[in-house]
Amino acid sequence: MYTQALNTADAGERTIEDAARSAQFQARIDAEERIEPNDWMPAAYRRTLTRQISQHAHSEIVGMLPEGNWITRAPSLRRKAALLAKVQDECGHGLYLYAAAETLGTSREELVDLMLAGKANPTLTWADIGVIGWLVDGAAIMNQIPLCRCSYGPYARAMIRVCKEESFHQRQGFEIMLTLSRGTEEQKAMAQDALDRWWWPVLMMFGPPDKVSQHSDTSTKWKIKRFSNDELRQKFVDATVPQAQFLGLTIPDPGMKQDADGHWIYSDIDWNEFSAVLSGNGPCNRERMAARRKAHEEGAWVREAAAAYAAKRKQRQLAQAAE
Ligand SMILES: [Fe+2]
Ligand SMILES: [Fe+2]
Repeated sequence: MYTQALNTADAGERTIEDAARSAQFQARIDAEERIEPNDWMPAAYRRTLTRQISQHAHSEIVGMLPEGNWITRAPSLRRKAALLAKVQDECGHGLYLYAAAETLGTSREELVDLMLAGKANPTLTWADIGVIGWLVDGAAIMNQIPLCRCSYGPYARAMIRVCKEESFHQRQGFEIMLTLSRGTEEQKAMAQDALDRWWWPVLMMFGPPDKVSQHSDTSTKWKIKRFSNDELRQKFVDATVPQAQFLGLTIPDPGMKQDADGHWIYSDIDWNEFSAVLSGNGPCNRERMAARRKAHEEGAWVREAAAAYAAKRKQRQLAQAAE
């Protein structure tokens, strides 16, 4: 699963020297220069990005767990191969992002320890795998394309490859939906049911509405964020409605109308549900985090073996150098 940033507040700069450096830093941002790991940056910029990139990484890792569960139940070899590739991509996305977050000075171990509960909804049928690809990865693309131009170099570069892979994920999901919606009555009902359950959670993925989002200002000033939550959400809705129409599925928002500019106006979002999920009370949070912890513990031998191999190699190189 992927979320828009929920940034921390700026603590302000402490010294006169920092104020001068901050002005210089802002001038570089305004000139569309990239900030690199060894460059000076305000502490709040570092904190905001560490939080945003690590949350993004966690969501890639936690998000692949329910999809991984469906690999053995995919309805054909072709679907299995595509889902396997997608899950592997998500794991890679987590890896690139942890690597980008590490360049800001927090170790991978610390980041993994801090892994927060991602937004978690159950995946009840095969159609959920279709909807996740179509809508969740589709929303991720909307969020992530502007991040390719983020002011922090390592994050922006990681996003370029991630976005190419997300586009494959979106297509594999849409193709599943297309097959189901052209299938039997039962398959159509399954597709509609999955859309009904995922539509609102996906709209929430874009983060709180602009009028209550407190931290957007600094992120916009620092060019971490290029569009507001509501702008991205609207782009997503406008792109998705015609796709749902093509599939012959109904978006579970009966009041939806197009305005004079062609934008689809959606009903109010129930943000109470969003805060419940964020505070870890989502339907599957506990289960999914337990699965995540188990996977981490079961992978301990791989990390130990890799560390032992690296140590042995280093020793061998030192011995060779001494000869
Ligand atoms: Fe991803
Ligand atoms: Fe994806």
